[in-house]
Amino acid sequence: MEETLLGIDVGSSSVKVALLDASSGRIITSATSPSTEMAIESPRAGWAEQHPDLWWEHVGKAIGAIRGSHSKELRATKAIGIAYQMHGLVLLDKDGRAVRPSIIWCDSRAVEIGNEAFAQLGHQNCLKNLGNSPGNFTASKLAWVKRSEPQIYSQARYCLLPGDYIALRLTGQFGTTPSGLSEAVLWNFSENRLATEVLKNFDISSTLIPPTSPNLGAFAELRSDVARELGLRPGIPVSYRAGDQPNNALALKVLLPGEVAANAGTSGVIYGVTERLGVDSLSRVNNFLHVNSAPNAPRIGSLMCVNGAGSFYRWAKHTLGSGKSYAELNALATMSPVGSGGIVALPYGNGAERTLKNVSPGASFENLDFNRHSTADVFRATQEGVVFALCYGLEIMRAMGLHPTSIRAGNANMFQSELFRQTFATCANAPVELFTTDGAEGAARGAGIGAGLLSSSDAFRGLTTELIIEPDISSQGATHDAYERWKTALAAHI
Ligand code: XUL
Repeated sequence: MEETLLGIDVGSSSVKVALLDASSGRIITSATSPSTEMAIESPRAGWAEQHPDLWWEHVGKAIGAIRGSHSKELRATKAIGIAYQMHGLVLLDKDGRAVRPSIIWCDSRAVEIGNEAFAQLGHQNCLKNLGNSPGNFTASKLAWVKRSEPQIYSQARYCLLPGDYIALRLTGQFGTTPSGLSEAVLWNFSENRLATEVLKNFDISSTLIPPTSPNLGAFAELRSDVARELGLRPGIPVSYRAGDQPNNALALKVLLPGEVAANAGTSGVIYGVTERLGVDSLSRVNNFLHVNSAPNAPRIGSLMCVNGAGSFYRWAKHTLGSGKSYAELNALATMSPVGSGGIVALPYGNGAERTLKNVSPGASFENLDFNRHSTADVFRATQEGVVFALCYGLEIMRAMGLHPTSIRAGNANMFQSELFRQTFATCANAPVELFTTDGAEGAARGAGIGAGLLSSSDAFRGLTTELIIEPDISSQGATHDAYERWKTALAAHI
Protein backbone atom coordinates (compact mmCIF):
# COMPACT_ATOMS: atom_id res chain seq x y z
CA MET A 1 0.00 0.00 0.00
CA GLU A 2 1.34 3.42 -0.93
CA GLU A 3 2.06 5.95 1.80
CA THR A 4 0.38 9.33 1.50
CA LEU A 5 0.71 12.73 3.14
CA LEU A 6 -2.14 15.16 3.75
CA GLY A 7 -1.66 18.92 3.45
CA ILE A 8 -4.28 21.38 4.71
CA ASP A 9 -4.07 25.05 3.73
CA VAL A 10 -6.44 27.33 5.63
CA GLY A 11 -6.64 30.56 3.65
CA SER A 12 -8.94 33.51 4.17
CA SER A 13 -10.97 32.74 1.04
CA SER A 14 -11.02 28.94 1.23
CA VAL A 15 -9.52 25.77 2.67
CA LYS A 16 -7.57 23.58 0.27
CA VAL A 17 -6.42 20.03 1.00
CA ALA A 18 -4.02 17.92 -1.04
CA LEU A 19 -3.06 14.26 -0.82
CA LEU A 20 0.50 13.55 -1.91
CA ASP A 21 2.07 10.20 -2.79
CA ALA A 22 5.07 10.10 -0.43
CA SER A 23 7.35 8.08 -2.71
CA SER A 24 6.85 9.97 -6.01
CA GLY A 25 6.08 13.38 -4.46
CA ARG A 26 3.16 13.68 -6.84
CA ILE A 27 -0.29 14.95 -6.01
CA ILE A 28 -2.93 12.21 -5.99
CA THR A 29 -5.88 14.50 -5.52
CA SER A 30 -6.90 17.80 -3.99
CA ALA A 31 -10.09 19.68 -3.08
CA THR A 32 -11.16 23.15 -2.04
CA SER A 33 -14.03 24.23 0.19
CA PRO A 34 -16.11 26.30 -0.16
CA SER A 35 -16.31 26.44 -3.95
CA THR A 36 -17.22 30.12 -3.74
CA GLU A 37 -15.35 32.19 -1.13
CA MET A 38 -15.52 32.27 2.65
CA ALA A 39 -16.92 35.54 3.90
CA ILE A 40 -14.83 37.97 5.92
CA GLU A 41 -17.07 39.74 8.43
CA SER A 42 -16.41 43.45 8.84
CA PRO A 43 -18.72 44.76 11.58
CA ARG A 44 -16.83 48.09 11.50
CA ALA A 45 -14.62 49.81 8.94
CA GLY A 46 -11.11 48.35 9.15
CA TRP A 47 -12.23 45.22 10.99
CA ALA A 48 -11.94 41.71 9.56
CA GLU A 49 -13.12 38.60 11.36
CA GLN A 50 -13.80 34.94 10.64
CA HIS A 51 -15.04 32.32 13.07
CA PRO A 52 -12.49 29.54 13.62
CA ASP A 53 -15.31 26.98 13.44
CA LEU A 54 -15.89 28.05 9.84
CA TRP A 55 -12.31 27.02 8.99
CA TRP A 56 -12.80 23.69 10.74
CA GLU A 57 -16.10 23.12 8.92
CA HIS A 58 -14.34 23.62 5.57
CA VAL A 59 -11.41 21.42 6.56
CA GLY A 60 -14.00 18.66 7.07
CA LYS A 61 -15.78 19.43 3.81
CA ALA A 62 -12.59 19.57 1.74
CA ILE A 63 -11.34 16.26 3.18
CA GLY A 64 -14.86 14.86 2.69
CA ALA A 65 -14.67 15.84 -0.98
CA ILE A 66 -11.57 13.70 -1.58
CA ARG A 67 -12.84 10.87 0.59
CA GLY A 68 -15.55 9.96 -1.93
CA SER A 69 -13.11 9.03 -4.68
CA HIS A 70 -9.89 8.34 -2.71
CA SER A 71 -10.87 6.72 0.59
CA LYS A 72 -8.09 4.12 0.33
CA GLU A 73 -5.40 6.73 -0.28
CA LEU A 74 -6.80 8.86 2.54
CA ARG A 75 -6.58 5.89 4.92
CA ALA A 76 -2.93 5.51 3.84
CA THR A 77 -2.09 9.01 5.17
CA LYS A 78 1.00 8.82 7.37
CA ALA A 79 1.24 12.45 8.48
CA ILE A 80 -0.66 15.75 8.32
CA GLY A 81 0.70 19.24 7.64
CA ILE A 82 -1.10 22.54 8.21
CA ALA A 83 -0.55 25.90 6.52
CA TYR A 84 -2.66 28.84 7.59
CA GLN A 85 -3.45 32.53 7.17
CA MET A 86 -0.92 34.25 9.42
CA HIS A 87 -1.24 36.60 12.41
CA GLY A 88 -4.90 35.82 13.24
CA LEU A 89 -5.94 35.87 16.89
CA VAL A 90 -7.88 32.82 18.06
CA LEU A 91 -8.95 33.14 21.69
CA LEU A 92 -10.19 29.99 23.38
CA ASP A 93 -11.71 29.10 26.74
CA LYS A 94 -10.44 26.20 28.85
CA ASP A 95 -12.44 23.71 26.78
CA GLY A 96 -11.00 24.98 23.51
CA ARG A 97 -14.12 26.92 22.45
CA ALA A 98 -13.62 30.27 20.72
CA VAL A 99 -14.67 33.10 23.03
CA ARG A 100 -15.09 35.45 20.05
CA PRO A 101 -14.56 35.31 16.26
CA SER A 102 -10.95 35.41 15.15
CA ILE A 103 -9.51 38.86 14.46
CA ILE A 104 -7.68 38.03 11.24
CA TRP A 105 -4.46 39.27 9.62
CA CYS A 106 -6.00 42.13 7.57
CA ASP A 107 -7.96 43.61 10.49
CA SER A 108 -6.55 47.06 11.29
CA ARG A 109 -7.99 47.78 14.73
CA ALA A 110 -4.73 47.22 16.64
CA VAL A 111 -2.54 49.65 14.67
CA GLU A 112 -2.55 52.34 17.37
CA ILE A 113 -1.89 49.84 20.15
CA GLY A 114 1.08 48.48 18.19
CA ASN A 115 2.46 51.97 17.55
CA GLU A 116 2.25 52.78 21.24
CA ALA A 117 4.06 49.57 22.18
CA PHE A 118 6.75 50.28 19.54
CA ALA A 119 7.47 53.57 21.30
CA GLN A 120 7.21 52.14 24.83
CA LEU A 121 9.50 49.17 24.14
CA GLY A 122 11.86 51.34 22.08
CA HIS A 123 12.24 51.24 18.30
CA GLN A 124 15.81 49.94 18.34
CA ASN A 125 15.02 47.32 20.94
CA CYS A 126 12.02 46.05 18.93
CA LEU A 127 13.84 45.93 15.60
CA LYS A 128 16.93 44.27 17.07
CA ASN A 129 15.20 41.69 19.27
CA LEU A 130 11.70 41.19 17.87
CA GLY A 131 12.58 41.80 14.21
CA ASN A 132 9.55 44.05 13.92
CA SER A 133 7.40 46.68 15.48
CA PRO A 134 4.59 44.96 17.43
CA GLY A 135 2.56 46.66 14.68
CA ASN A 136 -0.85 45.31 13.91
CA PHE A 137 0.15 41.73 14.63
CA THR A 138 -1.38 39.10 16.92
CA ALA A 139 0.03 40.36 20.24
CA SER A 140 -1.37 43.84 19.56
CA LYS A 141 -4.72 42.30 18.57
CA LEU A 142 -4.74 40.42 21.87
CA ALA A 143 -4.01 43.66 23.73
CA TRP A 144 -6.98 45.22 21.91
CA VAL A 145 -9.30 42.51 23.24
CA LYS A 146 -7.92 42.96 26.74
CA ARG A 147 -8.60 46.71 26.62
CA SER A 148 -11.85 46.76 24.69
CA GLU A 149 -13.59 43.53 25.65
CA PRO A 150 -12.44 42.78 29.22
CA GLN A 151 -15.30 40.36 29.87
CA ILE A 152 -14.48 38.27 26.83
CA TYR A 153 -10.78 38.48 27.63
CA SER A 154 -11.42 37.15 31.14
CA GLN A 155 -12.89 33.94 29.66
CA ALA A 156 -9.81 33.29 27.52
CA ARG A 157 -7.45 30.52 28.56
CA TYR A 158 -5.36 30.18 25.39
CA CYS A 159 -4.34 32.44 22.53
CA LEU A 160 -3.65 30.49 19.34
CA LEU A 161 -2.91 31.19 15.69
CA PRO A 162 -5.36 29.88 13.05
CA GLY A 163 -3.22 26.82 12.22
CA ASP A 164 -2.74 26.02 15.91
CA TYR A 165 -6.52 25.93 16.19
CA ILE A 166 -6.83 23.40 13.36
CA ALA A 167 -4.07 21.33 15.02
CA LEU A 168 -6.05 21.50 18.27
CA ARG A 169 -9.22 20.26 16.56
CA LEU A 170 -7.28 17.39 14.99
CA THR A 171 -5.30 16.33 18.06
CA GLY A 172 -6.89 17.83 21.19
CA GLN A 173 -3.54 19.49 22.06
CA PHE A 174 -2.99 23.20 22.64
CA GLY A 175 0.33 24.28 21.18
CA THR A 176 2.16 26.69 18.89
CA THR A 177 5.52 27.00 17.11
CA PRO A 178 8.56 29.33 17.21
CA SER A 179 7.72 30.67 13.74
CA GLY A 180 4.14 31.16 14.94
CA LEU A 181 5.30 33.20 17.94
CA SER A 182 7.45 35.33 15.64
CA GLU A 183 4.46 36.13 13.42
CA ALA A 184 2.58 37.21 16.55
CA VAL A 185 5.61 39.42 17.40
CA LEU A 186 6.10 37.34 20.51
CA TRP A 187 9.55 35.94 19.68
CA ASN A 188 12.84 37.29 20.91
CA PHE A 189 15.30 36.53 18.07
CA SER A 190 18.37 37.47 20.12
CA GLU A 191 17.64 34.96 22.87
CA ASN A 192 15.45 32.42 21.03
CA ARG A 193 12.57 32.61 23.46
CA LEU A 194 9.04 33.82 24.01
CA ALA A 195 9.16 37.63 24.07
CA THR A 196 7.75 37.99 27.57
CA GLU A 197 8.70 41.68 27.42
CA VAL A 198 5.91 42.28 24.87
CA LEU A 199 3.36 40.46 27.03
CA LYS A 200 4.53 42.41 30.06
CA ASN A 201 4.19 45.69 28.20
CA PHE A 202 0.56 44.80 27.44
CA ASP A 203 0.03 43.39 30.96
CA ILE A 204 -0.91 40.01 29.50
CA SER A 205 -0.19 36.78 31.34
CA SER A 206 2.20 34.41 29.56
CA THR A 207 -0.06 31.51 30.62
CA LEU A 208 -2.25 32.47 27.63
CA ILE A 209 0.53 31.29 25.32
CA PRO A 210 0.54 27.52 24.83
CA PRO A 211 3.70 25.39 24.82
CA THR A 212 5.92 25.60 21.75
CA SER A 213 7.23 22.73 19.62
CA PRO A 214 9.09 22.80 16.27
CA ASN A 215 7.29 23.76 13.07
CA LEU A 216 8.77 20.69 11.40
CA GLY A 217 8.38 17.77 13.80
CA ALA A 218 5.72 15.58 15.37
CA PHE A 219 3.38 17.79 17.39
CA ALA A 220 0.61 15.42 18.49
CA GLU A 221 -1.50 12.52 17.24
CA LEU A 222 -4.84 12.51 15.49
CA ARG A 223 -7.78 11.86 17.83
CA SER A 224 -9.70 8.65 17.16
CA ASP A 225 -13.12 10.32 16.93
CA VAL A 226 -11.81 12.90 14.45
CA ALA A 227 -10.01 10.21 12.47
CA ARG A 228 -13.28 8.27 12.15
CA GLU A 229 -15.14 11.39 11.10
CA LEU A 230 -12.58 12.28 8.41
CA GLY A 231 -11.73 8.81 7.08
CA LEU A 232 -8.15 8.86 8.38
CA ARG A 233 -6.26 6.47 10.67
CA PRO A 234 -6.15 7.44 14.35
CA GLY A 235 -2.77 8.20 15.88
CA ILE A 236 -1.06 9.63 12.77
CA PRO A 237 0.98 12.73 13.61
CA VAL A 238 0.37 16.36 12.82
CA SER A 239 4.02 16.96 11.95
CA TYR A 240 4.11 20.38 10.29
CA ARG A 241 2.53 23.76 11.04
CA ALA A 242 3.46 26.95 9.19
CA GLY A 243 2.02 30.32 8.25
CA ASP A 244 0.93 30.42 4.61
CA GLN A 245 3.88 32.56 3.52
CA PRO A 246 6.72 30.53 5.06
CA ASN A 247 4.81 27.50 3.78
CA ASN A 248 4.64 28.98 0.26
CA ALA A 249 8.42 29.32 0.47
CA LEU A 250 8.79 25.69 1.59
CA ALA A 251 6.44 24.56 -1.19
CA LEU A 252 8.86 26.22 -3.65
CA LYS A 253 11.96 24.82 -1.90
CA VAL A 254 12.93 28.31 -0.77
CA LEU A 255 14.86 27.33 2.35
CA LEU A 256 18.37 28.76 2.05
CA PRO A 257 19.70 32.29 2.51
CA GLY A 258 19.41 34.23 -0.74
CA GLU A 259 16.39 32.29 -2.03
CA VAL A 260 13.20 34.28 -2.67
CA ALA A 261 9.55 33.29 -3.06
CA ALA A 262 6.52 35.30 -4.11
CA ASN A 263 2.81 34.75 -3.83
CA ALA A 264 -0.23 36.67 -5.04
CA GLY A 265 -3.26 35.15 -3.35
CA THR A 266 -5.62 37.29 -1.27
CA SER A 267 -2.47 39.16 -0.23
CA GLY A 268 0.70 39.56 -2.29
CA VAL A 269 4.01 38.70 -0.69
CA ILE A 270 7.72 38.65 -1.46
CA TYR A 271 9.58 36.44 1.02
CA GLY A 272 13.36 36.24 1.09
CA VAL A 273 15.33 33.87 3.32
CA THR A 274 18.22 35.47 5.20
CA GLU A 275 20.58 34.54 8.03
CA ARG A 276 20.15 37.67 10.07
CA LEU A 277 17.50 40.25 10.78
CA GLY A 278 17.33 42.91 8.09
CA VAL A 279 16.39 46.35 9.21
CA ASP A 280 13.87 48.77 7.88
CA SER A 281 13.67 51.43 10.59
CA LEU A 282 9.95 51.90 9.85
CA SER A 283 9.25 48.15 10.03
CA ARG A 284 7.62 48.22 6.59
CA VAL A 285 9.15 44.83 5.85
CA ASN A 286 8.83 42.16 8.53
CA ASN A 287 11.02 39.41 9.90
CA PHE A 288 9.60 36.05 10.91
CA LEU A 289 11.34 32.78 11.74
CA HIS A 290 11.43 30.45 8.76
CA VAL A 291 10.17 26.89 9.24
CA ASN A 292 13.68 25.40 9.13
CA SER A 293 15.32 27.90 11.48
CA ALA A 294 17.53 26.47 14.21
CA PRO A 295 19.41 28.36 16.95
CA ASN A 296 22.77 27.44 15.39
CA ALA A 297 21.58 28.05 11.79
CA PRO A 298 19.06 30.86 11.86
CA ARG A 299 16.78 31.16 8.83
CA ILE A 300 14.70 34.29 8.78
CA GLY A 301 11.91 35.08 6.36
CA SER A 302 12.13 38.72 5.36
CA LEU A 303 8.50 39.30 4.37
CA MET A 304 6.93 42.14 2.42
CA CYS A 305 3.14 41.99 2.34
CA VAL A 306 0.57 43.86 0.24
CA ASN A 307 -2.87 43.13 1.70
CA GLY A 308 -4.71 44.20 -1.43
CA ALA A 309 -3.57 41.81 -4.16
CA GLY A 310 -5.85 38.92 -5.22
CA SER A 311 -8.43 40.56 -2.96
CA PHE A 312 -8.36 43.63 -5.26
CA TYR A 313 -8.60 41.51 -8.41
CA ARG A 314 -11.43 39.46 -6.92
CA TRP A 315 -13.30 42.62 -5.96
CA ALA A 316 -12.85 44.01 -9.48
CA LYS A 317 -14.07 40.72 -10.99
CA HIS A 318 -17.18 40.63 -8.80
CA THR A 319 -18.14 44.27 -9.20
CA LEU A 320 -16.92 45.17 -12.71
CA GLY A 321 -16.34 41.83 -14.41
CA SER A 322 -19.86 41.26 -15.88
CA GLY A 323 -19.79 37.58 -14.91
CA LYS A 324 -16.58 36.85 -16.81
CA SER A 325 -14.16 34.22 -15.47
CA TYR A 326 -10.63 35.09 -14.31
CA ALA A 327 -9.28 33.50 -17.51
CA GLU A 328 -11.56 35.69 -19.64
CA LEU A 329 -10.62 38.83 -17.70
CA ASN A 330 -6.92 37.99 -17.98
CA ALA A 331 -7.30 37.64 -21.75
CA LEU A 332 -9.27 40.90 -21.90
CA ALA A 333 -6.57 42.76 -19.94
CA THR A 334 -3.96 41.88 -22.58
CA MET A 335 -5.95 44.00 -25.09
CA SER A 336 -4.85 47.12 -23.21
CA PRO A 337 -1.31 48.53 -23.70
CA VAL A 338 1.45 48.59 -21.06
CA GLY A 339 0.44 51.36 -18.63
CA SER A 340 -3.30 50.73 -19.18
CA GLY A 341 -3.75 53.89 -21.27
CA GLY A 342 -2.80 56.01 -18.23
CA ILE A 343 -5.17 54.54 -15.60
CA VAL A 344 -3.51 54.16 -12.22
CA ALA A 345 -4.93 51.57 -9.82
CA LEU A 346 -4.00 51.61 -6.15
CA PRO A 347 -4.88 48.21 -4.66
CA TYR A 348 -4.93 49.17 -0.98
CA GLY A 349 -8.48 48.32 0.06
CA ASN A 350 -7.82 45.50 2.50
CA GLY A 351 -6.74 47.05 5.76
CA ALA A 352 -3.63 48.70 7.11
CA GLU A 353 -0.72 48.28 4.70
CA ARG A 354 2.62 47.55 6.33
CA THR A 355 4.65 48.87 3.38
CA LEU A 356 2.82 52.19 3.85
CA LYS A 357 3.57 52.44 7.60
CA ASN A 358 0.24 50.83 8.47
CA VAL A 359 -2.00 53.44 6.87
CA SER A 360 -5.10 52.32 4.94
CA PRO A 361 -5.37 54.63 1.92
CA GLY A 362 -8.10 52.49 0.34
CA ALA A 363 -8.14 51.38 -3.27
CA SER A 364 -8.75 53.69 -6.20
CA PHE A 365 -8.68 54.00 -9.98
CA GLU A 366 -7.28 57.33 -11.12
CA ASN A 367 -7.14 59.22 -14.44
CA LEU A 368 -10.21 57.48 -15.85
CA ASP A 369 -11.25 59.02 -19.17
CA PHE A 370 -14.79 57.97 -20.16
CA ASN A 371 -14.11 58.66 -23.83
CA ARG A 372 -10.95 56.56 -24.04
CA HIS A 373 -10.88 53.85 -21.44
CA SER A 374 -12.43 50.40 -21.72
CA THR A 375 -12.94 47.45 -19.39
CA ALA A 376 -9.71 45.99 -20.76
CA ASP A 377 -7.81 49.07 -19.50
CA VAL A 378 -9.45 48.78 -16.07
CA PHE A 379 -8.51 45.11 -15.71
CA ARG A 380 -4.96 45.65 -16.92
CA ALA A 381 -4.63 48.57 -14.49
CA THR A 382 -5.87 46.30 -11.69
CA GLN A 383 -3.15 43.74 -12.41
CA GLU A 384 -0.49 46.41 -12.91
CA GLY A 385 -1.55 48.08 -9.64
CA VAL A 386 -0.84 44.88 -7.74
CA VAL A 387 2.50 44.38 -9.53
CA PHE A 388 3.53 47.96 -8.77
CA ALA A 389 2.57 47.63 -5.10
CA LEU A 390 4.78 44.51 -4.91
CA CYS A 391 7.64 46.34 -6.64
CA TYR A 392 7.23 49.29 -4.30
CA GLY A 393 7.76 46.87 -1.38
CA LEU A 394 10.64 45.22 -3.21
CA GLU A 395 12.38 48.61 -3.36
CA ILE A 396 12.28 48.69 0.45
CA MET A 397 13.67 45.13 0.58
CA ARG A 398 16.47 46.07 -1.81
CA ALA A 399 17.38 49.03 0.39
CA MET A 400 17.66 46.50 3.24
CA GLY A 401 20.21 44.55 1.20
CA LEU A 402 18.00 41.80 -0.25
CA HIS A 403 18.71 41.52 -3.97
CA PRO A 404 16.83 38.63 -5.57
CA THR A 405 18.58 37.05 -8.54
CA SER A 406 15.41 35.11 -9.25
CA ILE A 407 11.98 34.84 -7.65
CA ARG A 408 10.06 31.56 -7.36
CA ALA A 409 6.29 31.39 -7.44
CA GLY A 410 3.63 28.73 -7.66
CA ASN A 411 1.38 28.76 -10.71
CA ALA A 412 -1.60 29.76 -8.58
CA ASN A 413 -3.85 32.78 -8.04
CA MET A 414 -2.65 35.92 -9.86
CA PHE A 415 0.53 34.20 -11.09
CA GLN A 416 -1.79 32.20 -13.36
CA SER A 417 -2.21 35.37 -15.41
CA GLU A 418 0.47 35.58 -18.09
CA LEU A 419 0.20 39.34 -18.09
CA PHE A 420 0.62 39.57 -14.33
CA ARG A 421 3.70 37.35 -14.14
CA GLN A 422 5.37 38.97 -17.15
CA THR A 423 4.73 42.49 -15.83
CA PHE A 424 6.06 41.40 -12.43
CA ALA A 425 9.28 39.92 -13.88
CA THR A 426 9.81 43.05 -16.01
CA CYS A 427 9.08 45.57 -13.27
CA ALA A 428 11.02 43.65 -10.58
CA ASN A 429 13.82 43.16 -13.11
CA ALA A 430 14.29 39.55 -11.99
CA PRO A 431 13.38 36.26 -13.65
CA VAL A 432 10.34 34.51 -12.23
CA GLU A 433 10.58 30.72 -11.91
CA LEU A 434 7.10 29.30 -12.01
CA PHE A 435 6.41 25.93 -10.34
CA THR A 436 3.37 23.70 -10.46
CA THR A 437 2.58 23.75 -6.78
CA ASP A 438 0.50 25.42 -4.10
CA GLY A 439 0.18 25.79 -0.34
CA ALA A 440 -1.70 22.54 0.30
CA GLU A 441 0.96 20.58 -1.58
CA GLY A 442 3.66 22.42 0.40
CA ALA A 443 1.93 21.49 3.66
CA ALA A 444 1.90 17.82 2.60
CA ARG A 445 5.64 17.94 1.82
CA GLY A 446 6.27 19.65 5.17
CA ALA A 447 4.31 16.87 6.90
CA GLY A 448 6.60 14.28 5.31
CA ILE A 449 9.75 16.08 6.46
CA GLY A 450 8.36 16.75 9.94
CA ALA A 451 7.38 13.11 10.46
CA GLY A 452 10.84 11.95 9.36
CA LEU A 453 9.32 10.07 6.39
CA LEU A 454 11.11 12.22 3.80
CA SER A 455 14.57 13.76 3.85
CA SER A 456 14.61 17.44 2.96
CA SER A 457 15.83 16.58 -0.54
CA ASP A 458 13.41 13.67 -1.17
CA ALA A 459 10.57 15.87 -0.02
CA PHE A 460 10.82 17.89 -3.25
CA ARG A 461 10.62 14.97 -5.65
CA GLY A 462 7.89 15.74 -8.10
CA LEU A 463 8.28 19.52 -7.79
CA THR A 464 8.76 20.77 -11.32
CA THR A 465 9.63 24.13 -12.85
CA GLU A 466 6.94 24.90 -15.35
CA LEU A 467 8.29 28.06 -16.87
CA ILE A 468 10.94 30.74 -16.43
CA ILE A 469 9.77 34.24 -17.25
CA GLU A 470 12.59 36.66 -18.03
CA PRO A 471 12.12 40.44 -17.75
CA ASP A 472 10.91 41.74 -21.11
CA ILE A 473 13.51 44.27 -22.26
CA SER A 474 11.25 45.64 -25.02
CA SER A 475 8.54 46.75 -22.57
CA GLN A 476 10.81 47.68 -19.66
CA GLY A 477 10.85 51.42 -20.49
CA ALA A 478 7.07 51.69 -20.75
CA THR A 479 6.61 49.54 -17.63
CA HIS A 480 8.94 51.74 -15.61
CA ASP A 481 7.22 54.91 -16.84
CA ALA A 482 3.89 53.45 -15.71
CA TYR A 483 5.44 52.46 -12.36
CA GLU A 484 6.74 56.01 -11.83
CA ARG A 485 3.27 57.44 -12.63
CA TRP A 486 1.81 54.96 -10.15
CA LYS A 487 4.26 56.03 -7.43
CA THR A 488 3.43 59.68 -8.01
CA ALA A 489 -0.27 58.88 -7.60
CA LEU A 490 0.45 56.88 -4.42
CA ALA A 491 2.49 59.74 -2.93
CA ALA A 492 -0.65 61.90 -2.82
CA HIS A 493 -2.32 59.34 -0.52
CA ILE A 494 0.38 58.65 2.07
C1 XUL B 1 1.66 37.72 5.75
C2 XUL B 1 0.24 38.10 5.78
C3 XUL B 1 -0.69 37.56 4.76
C4 XUL B 1 -1.52 36.45 5.34
C5 XUL B 1 -2.51 35.95 4.30
O1 XUL B 1 2.43 38.37 6.70
O2 XUL B 1 -0.23 38.81 6.63
O3 XUL B 1 0.03 37.12 3.66
O4 XUL B 1 -0.71 35.43 5.79
O5 XUL B 1 -3.12 34.79 4.67
